[in-house]
Amino acid sequence: MQRWREAWQDALYGPDGFYRRDEGPAGHFTTSAHGELGAVLAEVVARLADDSGVCRVVDLACGRGELLAHLHDQRPELELLGVDVVDRPAGLPEAVAWLRSPGGAGLPDGLGGLEALVLAHEWLDVVPCTVAEVDGDGTLREVLVDQSGTESLGDPIDGVELAWADAWWATTTPGERVEIGLSRDIAWRDLLSRSASGLTVAVDYGHTRTTRPARGSLTAYRSGVLTDAVPDGQHDLTAHVAVDSLGADEVVTQRDLLRRLGFTASTPDHAGASTDPLGYVRDLGRSSSIAALTDPDGLGGFSWAMTRHTRGHA
Ligand SMILES: C[S@@+](CC[C@H](N)C(=O)[O-])C[C@H]1O[C@@H](n2cnc3c(N)ncnc32)[C@H](O)[C@@H]1O
Repeated sequence: MQRWREAWQDALYGPDGFYRRDEGPAGHFTTSAHGELGAVLAEVVARLADDSGVCRVVDLACGRGELLAHLHDQRPELELLGVDVVDRPAGLPEAVAWLRSPGGAGLPDGLGGLEALVLAHEWLDVVPCTVAEVDGDGTLREVLVDQSGTESLGDPIDGVELAWADAWWATTTPGERVEIGLSRDIAWRDLLSRSASGLTVAVDYGHTRTTRPARGSLTAYRSGVLTDAVPDGQHDLTAHVAVDSLGADEVVTQRDLLRRLGFTASTPDHAGASTDPLGYVRDLGRSSSIAALTDPDGLGGFSWAMTRHTRGHA
C-alpha cells in the first residue's frame, strides 16, 4: 500500500507513466485545446496575451502542443513555448520552442523570468494531491492504495496538510473525503514565481468551499472511458481543483470570461450561405465551438484562475 499522492505521481510521471505514452493525452480524452474548440481557445489566449501587453505565450502542460499549433496558425508573430514531460513532439511547427518538464508539481529549471501569458490548461488537476477520508471516529486519515486500486486508511492527517483541510475543506462526517489541495497551491505559486510580467492562468474543473464534492472527485480515464481510479500507469488520474485556495487575483468561469471578451455563439447571417458558402460554414463551426465552450452545464463551468504580474513583482 502506498500513499495516493505517491502512487499517483508514479502512475502518471514515473518512467512508464501514463503521460509518457506515445499517443499523449489526446489518445485518451478530448479537451478544449483540441480540434475546432482549440481554434477558439487559441483566439481567447491570444486575446489575453494582447490585453496583457505581451507577445509571448507559454503553454505549460501542453500535451503534444495542440493549442500551440492553433496559435501559430492564427498568430505566427507570437513567440510560443510548449512545456510537457516528453521530448519535443514530431510535427510541432518549428517556430514553437519546447522545454521538457519533470511532471506533476515539478517544473523545469529553465523556466523563469517570463514576460508572457502563461497558460496551464488542465495541469493542476493532474498535480497529485494527498487523498484523505474521515474514519468512523471523525478523524481525517490518509487514504492508501495498491496497484489494483484497492484502498485502506492510513495515519491521521497532521501538520500543514491538516491546517489546509481545516482552513479550506473541513469535515468530520464519516466516509467523506478530502483532496488536500496544498500541493496544487504550492505548484501554482511556483509557476507564478517564474514570471516577471504578464498574466498567469490556470484552467480546470474546480470547486470552492460551498461546492466541494463530499466523496471527492478523484477519477480516471482510459481510451475516452471514465473508469475507477487505478494507479497502474494505464489510466489518467485526475481530481478537480480547490480553486479558491490558490489565492489567484481572480477566478472566473469560462462562460463568463468568454462573454466578457465578446465571444458569443450567434448564428451567422443566413444570406452568407449563398454569397460565401465556405465562410458561412466556417462561421457556423466557430459559433458552435463557442456554444460548447460556454455551455454552463459543460465546458463553460471550467474555472479560470488568473494572476497578473507587473515588472518587478512576481
Ligand atoms: C490533462 S492533460 C492536458 C493537456 C493540454 N493542456 C490540454 O488541455 O489538452 C495534462 C498534461 O499535463 C502534463 N503535465 C503534468 N505535469 C506537468 C509539469 N509539471 N510540467 C509540464 N507538463 C505537465 C501532462 O504530461 C499532460 O500532458
